[in-house]
Amino acid sequence: MTAPEWASLDELFNHLLHTEDDALRAAREAGAAAGMPPIEVSAQHAKLLTLWVTVAKARRVLEIGTLAGYSTIALARAVGGEGTVITLEYEPAHAGVARRNLERAGVSDRVEVLVGAALDTLPTLQARGERFDLVFIDADKENNVAYVEWAIALGGPGTVIVVDNIARNGRVLDPQPNDLQAYAIRDMLAMMGAHPRLETAAIQTVGTKGWDGFAVAVLR
Ligand code: SAH
Ligand code: DHB
Ligand code: MG
Repeated sequence: MTAPEWASLDELFNHLLHTEDDALRAAREAGAAAGMPPIEVSAQHAKLLTLWVTVAKARRVLEIGTLAGYSTIALARAVGGEGTVITLEYEPAHAGVARRNLERAGVSDRVEVLVGAALDTLPTLQARGERFDLVFIDADKENNVAYVEWAIALGGPGTVIVVDNIARNGRVLDPQPNDLQAYAIRDMLAMMGAHPRLETAAIQTVGTKGWDGFAVAVLR
């Protein structure tokens, strides 16, 4: 099967399952209209995030990398009325678009968008005594090792850690010498594999975003 067919089959799944509702579609389109790159998770991956929050009964969720808030909406939908999502975003303009999208999706009351480099805002979460049941890592890949370490520090037994973009159309398999993102993803997987408190699976996927994948781990 070829890449266009992966996308077409995703579209069939989206259609048959009614996966992307108006609020998610509007969030995606608002990001594109604002000139942001179309790198949000696919509709099916967003639904999987919603389902993971549900099965983990996660009430406190942390996201690193907001963009237009597409994945944030998916996470926020499953935390429940008393639950919260804190999402970290470097670009103020992205955070602004995300806040409007979260408002339109009716979840802004349960989401806090924190603007700044995540390595600067994560210590403030620790200082506040925040703890998270599920962490979704989807920002600058160069810092993925540090982000997983932060997820462990801010988690506890049973915390679920999900990391996007572990295949990148195969670039992780045989990185170009200057592909620091691909090397960082390999370093992160090696770190996760060696970590005594993490149990991790690395899953390749195809679909509207081509060949990519995610790591999912549970903290002991
Ligand atoms: N999770 C989003 C997509 C995130 S794209 C979704 O699926 O809908 C990656 C985002 O991470 C971009 O908005 C980018 O500005 C942000 N980012 C990049 N470096 C960052 C950093 N150091 N700290 C926080 N956010 C960062
Ligand atoms: C890129 C980043 C992502 O988080 C993603 O899901 C796809 C692509 C990128 O930086 O190219
Ligand atoms: Mg991503």
